Amino acid sequence: MPTLLIKNARYLGEPADLLVVDGAVRALSSSIEAPADAHIVDAAGNILFPSFIDVHTHLREPGYEWKETVATGLAAAAHGGFGAILCMANTDPVNDDAAVTEQILEAARRSWPHGPRVHPIGAATVGLKGEELARMAELKDAGCVAISNDGRPVGNTELFRRAMEYAADLGLIVIDHCEDPYLAAKSHMNEGVTSGVLGIKGQPDVAETIQAARSILLADYLGVPVHIAHVSAKRTVDVIAWGKSRGVKVTAETTPHYLTLDDTAVNNYNTLAKVNPPLRTPADVAALREAVKSGVIDMLATDHAPHAAHEKETPFDEAPNGFTGMDLALTVTYGLVREGVLTEADLIRLWATEPGRVFKLPVNSFEPGAPADFFLFDPDLEWQVSPETLHSKSHNTPWLGQTLKGRVAAHWLGGVKIA
Ligand code: DOR
Repeated sequence: MPTLLIKNARYLGEPADLLVVDGAVRALSSSIEAPADAHIVDAAGNILFPSFIDVHTHLREPGYEWKETVATGLAAAAHGGFGAILCMANTDPVNDDAAVTEQILEAARRSWPHGPRVHPIGAATVGLKGEELARMAELKDAGCVAISNDGRPVGNTELFRRAMEYAADLGLIVIDHCEDPYLAAKSHMNEGVTSGVLGIKGQPDVAETIQAARSILLADYLGVPVHIAHVSAKRTVDVIAWGKSRGVKVTAETTPHYLTLDDTAVNNYNTLAKVNPPLRTPADVAALREAVKSGVIDMLATDHAPHAAHEKETPFDEAPNGFTGMDLALTVTYGLVREGVLTEADLIRLWATEPGRVFKLPVNSFEPGAPADFFLFDPDLEWQVSPETLHSKSHNTPWLGQTLKGRVAAHWLGGVKIA
């Protein structure tokens, strides 16, 4: 493998050259003399980041390949700066069986042999039906790194308790999509002024918070960990902070959209802004910004949920929930750096270090010997969000058509250029 020298980048605001030998970091410093045989990349104007980890994606294969395949999802990951992703179990068939896990891993090996790396998440219950536990040990042996009923939250608290205990015995974290099935039934957006004006049935924020409180109380009682998925509401932040203050092993993620958009994005019945949990209020956005800064929310994730254009071009209450996310994640969250809400160091903590710590995945520290998993980000590049510029097969994002600033310019994993 040829020696690689990245010249003239910036890392955490400082000038940075990066030397990569045999797929590993050799040195990172303000100026490195090029070895005779080195391939040199001039990264002037670009920011250096360690590859990110997205702990919450939907790849849609098997079963929904018209929305996304493992190959196209990994293209979005590679070009979004993600070196590793976790994918949810709501495929068809559901990933409640080792054969499905292996199929996903094989599709990844075939399409992207050098990564991004895929880590499947096994279903908590058979068929995600919430009736009986999935065979978690078998799922773990096949390669699943966590357990979740995401998309079809478990309403039965006794069954959820058993899922948490069984997963903890296996060293797997349960990722909980928190939604009280009765409070959330038949809702299509946040319950509030906008839902009232539009005449759409809303979901109260407590639908999320009540279920998060349930999981945190169970984690406290059982002494096991739980990870709260895609937190959307201030009330939920408050119960997570309470759990952490008691020493409960609770971790949590939120997404770029809950940090930047509120429920007025749904005005004009815009199905591209329909997601579950729904976009909430400006007060929720403000609370989530504070929570990612303070660490009450441990990490970011995309909840990458691709859906085809024809599926979103329907009456509002018939449209599926979700946004394609991996192509846009860093562009949107770098906007928060520009606004002064987060720093580049925060982005590394929220997109790499914390996901790696909680889900036990390697992260490039840029120390000598670390895996050379990194990307260059051009903060000034302006690009229009369109089917042509997105690598995901689906284009269902509220930012569709907009011109945004900042994009991943190039990405290496283990010293191999993947994007
Ligand atoms: O918006 C969402 N889309 N929320 C979910 O929980 C599931 C996801 C999907 O699979 O489309």
